[in-house]
Amino acid sequence: MKPITKAIIPAAGLGTRMLPISHAVPKEMLPIVDMPAVSFLVEEAVASGIKDILIITSRDKDAMEDFFDYSPEYEAKLLASGKTAEAERIRSIADKANIYFLRQKEARGLGHAVGRARSFVGNEPFCVLYGDDIIFSETPVCRQLMDAYEAYGRPVVGVKPVSMELVSKYCSLKVEKMEGKDNLYFCDDMIEKPKKGQEFSNLSILGRVLLTPEFFDIIDALPPGAGGEIQLTDAMALYAREKGVTALEFEGTRYDMGSKLGFMMANVARAACHEEIKDDFIAFLREFVKGL
Ligand code: UTP
Repeated sequence: MKPITKAIIPAAGLGTRMLPISHAVPKEMLPIVDMPAVSFLVEEAVASGIKDILIITSRDKDAMEDFFDYSPEYEAKLLASGKTAEAERIRSIADKANIYFLRQKEARGLGHAVGRARSFVGNEPFCVLYGDDIIFSETPVCRQLMDAYEAYGRPVVGVKPVSMELVSKYCSLKVEKMEGKDNLYFCDDMIEKPKKGQEFSNLSILGRVLLTPEFFDIIDALPPGAGGEIQLTDAMALYAREKGVTALEFEGTRYDMGSKLGFMMANVARAACHEEIKDDFIAFLREFVKGL
């Protein structure tokens, strides 16, 4: 089986849950301590063996392109003041992978965003990392999905059990546990944003899927779904009903950077293990919590 080398990061959403900041700063560029959210996705993809990454972007999100580019003037100033390590760090961000950008001209949904990547993907399987789902894990989650694809040869969706309240905001999967496996399921149906009574289970897709090129024709033929958007879940549901997909309950903790709470939680989790600040931050946090 050919190794998977391509990934898509859809990052063209409106980010309404993060207003007002998101009307001026793309939510994907919000910091987790000192790095923008999107850089954690790029790192995860690269650590999984991905070489080519397409970021689906939109008007007013140029800051993402700037972040993954060289900054000759800024680097020169750092070098002139002896800050060689800092200058090298900036440069190394741009050299991590081949990073491409494509604009989704209208925010018509996650499925529509992924559909823009047809010519980038060509005829190969590919990973999709949802632009606002950051996952900290031992083994990068994309790698976990790739291993499941290599084992079973079917598209893979990354899932976690969530509360029924969240199921209605995300999606719900119809699954059967694979024999002898704790974290693998065969999935033959799913529904986006189910209403009460429509849920199959409390397993939802959280931020990572591995798809095959057949998905582009399915997406192109999709009518608008929940919220009037072209939903990636609807494309995956059609595929699952016909052929089935693998659902992998991945190892790792996921933070929803598209929500205010998720953004704060990711920052606390990261700051508590950040080499430069962890000791002072943890001391602050202990004191702060005492006063609550
Ligand atoms: P979300 O639904 O979480 O993002 O989509 P959103 O639309 O920005 O959220 P709110 O509800 O307005 O706050 C999941 C991912 O898909 C991308 C988003 O950028 C996000 O990373 N997306 C969504 C697109 O790229 N294009 C779209 O049309 C919609």
